[in-house]
Amino acid sequence: MAIIPVLRMGNPLLKQRASDVTEFNTASLDQLIQDMFDTMKAEDGAGLAAPQIGISKRVVVFGFDANPRYQDAPPVPRTVLINPVITALDDDMEQGWEGCLSVPGLRGLVPRYTHVRYTGFDQYGEPIDVTAEGFHARVVQHECDHLDGILYPQRMNDLSSLGFTEELAAAGRL
Ligand code: NI
Repeated sequence: MAIIPVLRMGNPLLKQRASDVTEFNTASLDQLIQDMFDTMKAEDGAGLAAPQIGISKRVVVFGFDANPRYQDAPPVPRTVLINPVITALDDDMEQGWEGCLSVPGLRGLVPRYTHVRYTGFDQYGEPIDVTAEGFHARVVQHECDHLDGILYPQRMNDLSSLGFTEELAAAGRL
């Protein structure tokens, strides 16, 4: 078990495009995924992308039954997603609150596609093909953005909602 320090906004590695995984079912990939789940759990994250722990590979993990950082969120299946491709299924978008372990203490309202399909591979190279909506779709879009060097504030269309979690909660906005 290894909990790795999460890189924060400003670190150049978070702005890079991560590279494709070319070898599956390897000890180093298994170790990376275990470290990602350990780190995500320790930080109560809804998901984590490999660049956040300093590995510039196209690997994300996400999922939870219940999450103290997103108390109203429905469960999201525990998923390992490698070399992902996301397709919006229609033009519907919705605003929702997001945070990020790389932007600690803050939340903002971010527009995301409501209905998406995502494809990719698990750590054994088995194909994944899932349709998702709502918070599940939001988490996938947020995590996969990390692989292209994008953090959620860059997706916001009104920065006036960006604030500290405690202040937003105290104001009854979360
Ligand atoms: Ni994030």
